[in-house]
Amino acid sequence: MLLPRFRWSLTCLVLCQILHRAEAISLDINDEQSIKDAASTAAWGMMRHYKGNESGEIPGKLPNTWWEGGAMFMTLIEYWHFTGDSTYNNEVKVGMQWQAGDGNYFPSNWSTYLGNDDQMFWGLAAMTAAELRLPDVSDGYSWLSLAQGVFNMQAGRWDTSNCDGGLRWQIWAYQAGYAMKNSVTNGGLFQLAARLARYTGNSTYAEWAEKIWDWSASVPLLSNSTWNVADSTDVDNGCSTQGNNQWTYNYGIYLGGAAYMYNYTNGTNTKWTNAVNGLLNVTLDKFFPSKYGGDIMSEITCEPNEVCNNNEIIFKGLLSMWLAFTALIVPSTYDSILPKLQGSAVAAAKSCTGNSNNTCGVRWYTEKWDGWSGLEEQMSVTSILTANLISMESDMAPVTSTTGGNSTSDPSAGSSDSDSEGGTIQTEITTGDRVGAAFVTVGMAAVPIAALIFMLST
Ligand SMILES: *[C@@H]1O[C@H](CO)[C@@H](O)[C@H](O)[C@H]1NC(C)=O
Ligand SMILES: *[C@@H]1O[C@H](CO)[C@@H](O)[C@H](O)[C@H]1NC(C)=O
Ligand SMILES: *[C@@H]1O[C@H](CO)[C@@H](O)[C@H](O)[C@H]1NC(C)=O
Ligand SMILES: *[C@@H]1O[C@H](CO)[C@@H](O)[C@H](O)[C@H]1NC(C)=O
Ligand SMILES: *[C@@H]1O[C@H](CO)[C@@H](O)[C@H](O)[C@H]1NC(C)=O
Ligand SMILES: *[C@@H]1O[C@H](CO)[C@@H](O)[C@H](O)[C@H]1NC(C)=O
Ligand SMILES: *[C@@H]1O[C@H](CO)[C@@H](O)[C@H](O)[C@H]1NC(C)=O
Ligand SMILES: *[C@@H]1O[C@H](CO)[C@@H](O)[C@H](O)[C@H]1NC(C)=O
Repeated sequence: MLLPRFRWSLTCLVLCQILHRAEAISLDINDEQSIKDAASTAAWGMMRHYKGNESGEIPGKLPNTWWEGGAMFMTLIEYWHFTGDSTYNNEVKVGMQWQAGDGNYFPSNWSTYLGNDDQMFWGLAAMTAAELRLPDVSDGYSWLSLAQGVFNMQAGRWDTSNCDGGLRWQIWAYQAGYAMKNSVTNGGLFQLAARLARYTGNSTYAEWAEKIWDWSASVPLLSNSTWNVADSTDVDNGCSTQGNNQWTYNYGIYLGGAAYMYNYTNGTNTKWTNAVNGLLNVTLDKFFPSKYGGDIMSEITCEPNEVCNNNEIIFKGLLSMWLAFTALIVPSTYDSILPKLQGSAVAAAKSCTGNSNNTCGVRWYTEKWDGWSGLEEQMSVTSILTANLISMESDMAPVTSTTGGNSTSDPSAGSSDSDSEGGTIQTEITTGDRVGAAFVTVGMAAVPIAALIFMLST
């Protein structure tokens, strides 16, 4: 994942609030068409930032970031499924095939600086396509096989020589963050394995999901008593320490995977019932602060000081959809999840008054535009609006191969690539745009200071 461009315009923050009395995205949370229209407005704003379908551009590739393309297509597939609007489906299919590499989302243009999590978001997007019945393309990889390709490649990276298991965050030893084993990476493979188990019925995937979950709970990443989800741990000290920054998507990625395991096991295994209830309880308490009324999602680690980077701005959107899927496949959670999705959507829509054209901001709880804008802001708002459609129609749950899913399976997909050949490639990372989680803490302190210097010097 890459560092954001610093694009918080202080001038606009002040002036825009005064000059613009723009309309928010109008939203009646109890009206299906209103939710769809609002989601359409937010998605349109997101796609103003996508140039990958124009001549001379690379399909699926966004400027300065590769992983966000996967998150964007995942959002668009969900948007299509819940709204029925297929406006962007062609961009989705073309972009997701273009970046597929050898059927495992490890394309050689970008693979020398990818982390496991970057690859995983494309794998999860492909899994989403299979589960939501986006038809396979006739001349490319099936969606299911792409998810299997990512699974196979990452399962092959399982590292028992450090901390008795787990995936490293980064793939190559020259990458900053290589020493880390983190939650989004391990939670990502856990969730993908759980979803493959449920979709295909193949118990090998379920065994992997169990193994990844149990390992995560054996190190300071995941607590199955307090249900704390930490951000990272470090192989250099045997995974004994904890980087405990709190992020919505880390909770969401484990919660979502546990929900799929609950459903796969027909609700008969208390391990997954407890996991879903425990993680959901902490997620709802922590990221829907009572000081904002208790129903509005907030990225609590970066929003108060306005230091969220582009990656972090997307996290709320990811949690939104994982909560929606959880409500659908663990029906007992529906009643506690829906009010949180509704409160967040109402607030998020009110944040979209920017630039007189419904540009959305970062912080939903302010219930007005906060001066931020970008593809990431639009993506999260598109997701929270889309997620609210679970209350409007039945039969919206992700399917399986026995309940209507027909994406073609290839259990050995993606296994022709190995990391060993790439391991010798020495790409110099000089751009300074790699972000190690180690830098995140530093960045958080530095940004307000930079802003202050900027204010004083202009
Ligand atoms: C809204 O206006 C901004 C600033 O002019 C622009 O960058 C953005 O693309 C516009 N968005 C839409 C949806 O027109
Ligand atoms: C690219 O997609 C957008 C929708 O996001 C559409 O408005 C535009 O016409 C497309 N451009 C080309 C060249 O197909
Ligand atoms: C790789 O880079 C080449 C040259 O810029 C470009 O034509 C191609 O579309 C890129 N492929 C991917 C998968 O990004
Ligand atoms: C799979 O299902 C989709 C719709 O769910 C349909 O459009 C497609 O034709 C089906 N493919 C096959 C091979 O049956
Ligand atoms: C769940 O129930 C279905 C239908 O009764 C059954 O076929 C399947 O084997 C069960 N799955 C597990 C993991 O027990
Ligand atoms: C989580 O559990 C605690 C303790 O049982 C309870 O007080 C709290 O209301 C729960 N939170 C939610 C959101 O259900
Ligand atoms: C599994 O998910 C389906 C929706 O696809 C739902 O109807 C069913 O009740 C869930 N199973 C359990 C045990 O909750
Ligand atoms: C189940 O998945 C495993 C792991 O990918 C694979 O080796 C095996 O062939 C699959 N089994 C079937 C019946 O598809």
